[in-house]
Amino acid sequence: MPIMIKTPQEIEKMRRSGQVVREVLEHVRQFVKPGASTQDLENAAVGKIKELGAKAAFKGYRGYPCVLCTSVNEEVVHGIPSAERVLRDGDIVSIDTGVILDGYYGDSAITVAVGQKVSPRTQRLLAVTKASLERGIEAIKPGATLGDVGAAVQEVVEAEGFSVVREFVGHGIGTRLHEDPQVPNYGRRGQGQKLREGMVIAIEPMVNAGKPDVQVLSDGWTAVTQDGSLSAHFEHTVAVTAEGATILTQ
Ligand code: MF3
Ligand code: CO
Repeated sequence: MPIMIKTPQEIEKMRRSGQVVREVLEHVRQFVKPGASTQDLENAAVGKIKELGAKAAFKGYRGYPCVLCTSVNEEVVHGIPSAERVLRDGDIVSIDTGVILDGYYGDSAITVAVGQKVSPRTQRLLAVTKASLERGIEAIKPGATLGDVGAAVQEVVEAEGFSVVREFVGHGIGTRLHEDPQVPNYGRRGQGQKLREGMVIAIEPMVNAGKPDVQVLSDGWTAVTQDGSLSAHFEHTVAVTAEGATILTQ
C-alpha cells in the first residue's frame, strides 16, 4: 500500500482520537499500584473509552482479546490483561492502547513504575526509553528519512548500554491501525523512506535492559526478552508538519 498523506482536516480528526488515547492512558495510570491486576487496568480502560464515545482499536484486531496491552517486567509488548497477573511493588508495566474515533485511529503507550521499590537502574530504563522516543520525534521533518529517526532513537538507547528491539517496529496510522511505512527504532542516517508533510506515524521504541532478542510466548501474543531482562515501551502518534512534527497523542 502507498503511504497515505493526510489533509489538515484528517490530522485534526486524528488529534481528537489521539486525545482520547491520552485521556485513557492517564486514567489507567492512576490504577497502577501494588495489588492491582492487569485486568483492573483493562476494566478502567474499557469504561473510559466508552465514556469518551470512542471504539477500542486493539480488541478483535487479528483476534486480540482486550482493549489494552499490559506488559509487565520482561514482557516487551502485547501482554494480555488477566485477573491472575497482580502487580507487585517494584514491577514496571507498559500500557499500550489504541482507539478509533470518527474513522481515525490513535495509538500510544507508556511504561509506569509500580509502587516505590523500582531500582534506580530500572527508573533509568524508563527515562531513557521515553527520551529515545522524544529524540526520534525531534528528528522528524519533511525531507528527513526514517533512517534519521531510527538512528536518533538507537543512539539514545545504546549510549546507556540498553538495546533496541528489532522484531517489532512502529507504523503508519490513519484509517487503519497499521499503515505503511514501517518505522524501525534503529537505522542509518540518510537511509530509508523520506518523510513528507501530512504523513502520520506511530513511533514506539521497545528497549531492553539486556540483549535485544525477544520471543513470543505460547499464548501467541506476549513477547518477552529472551534473556529475562526488563523491557520498556513508549509510543506516540505523530504527524509530519511543514515545520517538523506534531504529537497527536500529547
Ligand atoms: N501499539 C501496538 C501496535 O501498534 C499494539 C497493537 S496490539 C494489537 O502494533 F492487539 F492490536 F495487535
Ligand atoms: Co503502535
